[in-house]
Amino acid sequence: ARLPELLRAMPKAELHIHIEGSLEPELIFALAQRNGLQLPYASVAELRSAYAFCNLQSFLDIYYAGASVLRHEQDFYDLAHAYLARAARDRVLHAEIFFDPQTHTARGVAIETVIDGLHRACAEARTGLGISATLILCFLRHLSEKAAFETLEQAEPLLDKIVGVGLDSSEQGHPPEKFARVFARCRERGLHLVAHAGEEGPPAYIWSALDVLRVERIDHGVQAVHDAALMQRLAHQRIALTVCPLSNQKLCVFPSLAQHNLGRLLDAGLAATVNSDDPAYFGGYINENFTQVFAATGLTARQAYQLAFNSFEASFAGNADKRLWQ
Ligand code: HPA
Ligand code: ZN
Repeated sequence: ARLPELLRAMPKAELHIHIEGSLEPELIFALAQRNGLQLPYASVAELRSAYAFCNLQSFLDIYYAGASVLRHEQDFYDLAHAYLARAARDRVLHAEIFFDPQTHTARGVAIETVIDGLHRACAEARTGLGISATLILCFLRHLSEKAAFETLEQAEPLLDKIVGVGLDSSEQGHPPEKFARVFARCRERGLHLVAHAGEEGPPAYIWSALDVLRVERIDHGVQAVHDAALMQRLAHQRIALTVCPLSNQKLCVFPSLAQHNLGRLLDAGLAATVNSDDPAYFGGYINENFTQVFAATGLTARQAYQLAFNSFEASFAGNADKRLWQ
């Protein structure tokens, strides 16, 4: 079979998807109408035309504005259900979904509204779509350690509905060690730990995510190539990187997709995976990330198999999830 067909048909796990980043302009307009909100854009086309970024911060400003139409439990359910139905078509068997509670609690939405809506969609996807889906609560790193602790406290009664915690938002100037104590607390709670590091930020942030936060995976991590000792460590310890090619292209992390370093990471023996990050904003879901980066950089069928294998190996899926896929 041709490589693009193989990429689309192969079973895969998605480990780096921000649910707020799967909010399509059409759903933004539908939710604004349902919730009686006025948008500063006249049409879906006008909103979409505002999606021109050239770094992480310019994207985040629009991403947080879009999320402001999410108010009720049903809104969060509809958002997650739409993503899961779309992921099923891309042959995703397992998804670990990031969400940003502080984006919503800052607007007066209760954290249980967020988590209950997302969790109900995940639970239904097991029977309705044959997908296992779990939730990873992300702390916003541009906010304080105190705000992260408050968020964890609010989430305490709902911890059975999340599998882990992560760290996202503006990377530069907000090193992982700012959240050392809150991650230590999450570790005591038995939660899995991940963090965005080395997307735009330096290799030093990847080191401190590993050594200070003690994370199990690195989200993005593409800047690791600038540090040979770090590359060796990531390879030897099989620490997964959740790479997002179209995100890196849209945020100008690489001059072009053809210059993406995914092949270099795989050649160095790193457990890289391919993911969509914020598909509604970056122009494609997971299969589009696979087909475009393979076409642009000339990766092989062997590397496709390796990426799919890595995604399952790096996942936090349990035995009940694995039984579901068989
Ligand atoms: N980086 C940091 N924060 C984010 C991202 C990202 O790629 N997407 C959504 N929040
Ligand atoms: Zn991300």
